[in-house]
Amino acid sequence: MCLTAYDAPTAEIIDPHCDLILVGDSVGMVVHGLPSTVGVTMDMMIMHGQAVMRGSKTAMVVVDLPFGSYEGTPDTAFASASRVMMETSCQAVKIESGSYAAKTIAYLVERGIPVMSHVGLRPQSMHVLGGFRARGRNQKVADEILRNAVAAAEAGSFAVVVEGVSAEIAERVTKAVDIPTIGIGASPNCDGQILVTPDMLGLFDRVPKFVHKFGNMREQIDASVSQYADEVKSRTFPRAENLYVFKD
Ligand code: KIV
Ligand code: NA
Repeated sequence: MCLTAYDAPTAEIIDPHCDLILVGDSVGMVVHGLPSTVGVTMDMMIMHGQAVMRGSKTAMVVVDLPFGSYEGTPDTAFASASRVMMETSCQAVKIESGSYAAKTIAYLVERGIPVMSHVGLRPQSMHVLGGFRARGRNQKVADEILRNAVAAAEAGSFAVVVEGVSAEIAERVTKAVDIPTIGIGASPNCDGQILVTPDMLGLFDRVPKFVHKFGNMREQIDASVSQYADEVKSRTFPRAENLYVFKD
């Protein structure tokens, strides 16, 4: 049972329900309004990671390593991951695991950093993959996803996020690795599920096909702000109970 969080109050609300809270680099899109996750920086991840850690009590908190901070060499990845862990006190990091990742995962785990992997649709590679489209709907891509997942598991990842793949591929990956698979747009055939919290709460009109909106936050905010606007203009807010009274 996993969700994302980027701030302390949200972390506090979702923590009792979650086994794992991910401070995803989706923060770039759903909080900062960026067009993709590619522009997310280490400083952003650390600041949001610290906020989530302040709100979370019992769930495991995992922070995404952002684009550019871990792909080059295992050594660079260790510098980034150790900085994230030391400055946020989170319990693990997540990396998007292409074919290059196994060496890095082993390097980090051996040096004390638990790693969650992320295969299938890898948003940080959208410019190479060709946008945010479901992956693993043809044989060649399916085999590649399976290889990446198996390599990530063998290298020592404690779990793997599987994003944007068909139910068949999700099942193959889940059977092939003995670590938990956490699906997002990856059918019920994964061991667990994760969603981007503002997406599932209904903060946006447009969400990916795999999201179910469990709430309607966008309408709730709009209705509340509209009522506030009316009351400010009609001078019915502040109300009597909102006033400080002179006590002398
Ligand atoms: O950044 C993120 O929120 C993620 C999840 C969607 C798995 O990586
Ligand atoms: Na991410």
